[in-house]
Amino acid sequence: MTQRCVLGIETSCDDTAAAVVRGGREVLSSVVASQTELHRRWGGVVPEAACRAHLASILPVVEEALERAGGLALGDLAAIAVTTRPGLVGALLVGVATARALAQSLGLPLVGVHHLEAHVVACQLASPALEPPFVCMVVSGGHTEIYRYGGLGRMEVLGRTRDDAAGEAFDKAAAMLGLPYPGGPSIAKAAERGDPKAVRFPRALLQPRASLEMSFSGLKTALLYRLKGVGSRREGFGPAADLAPQEVADLAASYQEAIVDVLVEKLRRAARHTGLRDVAVGGGVACNVRLRERLAAMAEQEGLRLHLAPPAWCTDNAAMVAALGWRNLEAGLEVGYEQAVCASGVGSRCA
Ligand code: KG4
Ligand code: ZN
Repeated sequence: MTQRCVLGIETSCDDTAAAVVRGGREVLSSVVASQTELHRRWGGVVPEAACRAHLASILPVVEEALERAGGLALGDLAAIAVTTRPGLVGALLVGVATARALAQSLGLPLVGVHHLEAHVVACQLASPALEPPFVCMVVSGGHTEIYRYGGLGRMEVLGRTRDDAAGEAFDKAAAMLGLPYPGGPSIAKAAERGDPKAVRFPRALLQPRASLEMSFSGLKTALLYRLKGVGSRREGFGPAADLAPQEVADLAASYQEAIVDVLVEKLRRAARHTGLRDVAVGGGVACNVRLRERLAAMAEQEGLRLHLAPPAWCTDNAAMVAALGWRNLEAGLEVGYEQAVCASGVGSRCA
């Protein structure tokens, strides 16, 4: 039964990942080599450093994924799937060049995968009964978008952020508060001891007739002004000195609540707008415990079925790439050795 196995490879940002998935559903292995330690000293992902780290890790990570899948040989695979977009171009190239070299030398099909669609498919991996059409919000470090997912390649954007992604807003706020990188998990941790009502941060674009667009840059600026005073000529996002631990906790909790309020309300409106009852949320920010609680409460109020992947499938991983690769292969989509990489996402010229 090895013929239905796809090896997925993911290198779009700062995680080098490989996984083996059988029949698009059964995850036999999923290996992620995180570069968090590497990028911590800069407080964010440095593309050139990410590429070099991908180069060093990619083959050992692939080998480990095959090993953990019961010692599969490359020749046992049905295909190799790889993320081609969106992402850091140099980082994507490492994955695509590796996948292509392996596939072409073995005569296996090579399948391209859209990273954001893979985050959607991760929700289906976790909820096997979840079938299109459904509403899916992908909230990560680089993207915050709501789709009406109509099936393979059919990602209708209902709304997206006009500026920063929610994950980026978490990451920048953590830097301002002197909390460690990556910011999302450390804001969430600090928030556990804080009062979400301590500071009233802005919630953009929530007026009754607003579209499903979002904006998080004003929130970030509000935190900066709160810390440094309006009109400060301070540059960059270096840590704030002299904050008491309780102040940090209160700011973190209030800031997190502002982001969560917006995400939950936009998803509620997207469900009402489409009339769809199945809603899913993926991407790294979907690991956030407060967001998960508030989404569950909203879904209950609205009578929606909420599909949340476990945290390991919310953050970047290659199981979602292999799963979508299998589906694309079966549908004859994106199959071929010439796979172009692209930095931009859904709705762009190369999407
Ligand atoms: O999907 P992902 O792993 O990578 C991208 O494709 O961007 O998402 C990473 C983002 C980062 O901004 C990180 O701070 C955020 O997800 N994140 C969280 C949490 N865990 C990760 N944000 C809020 N709360 C969390 N628990
Ligand atoms: Zn991602």
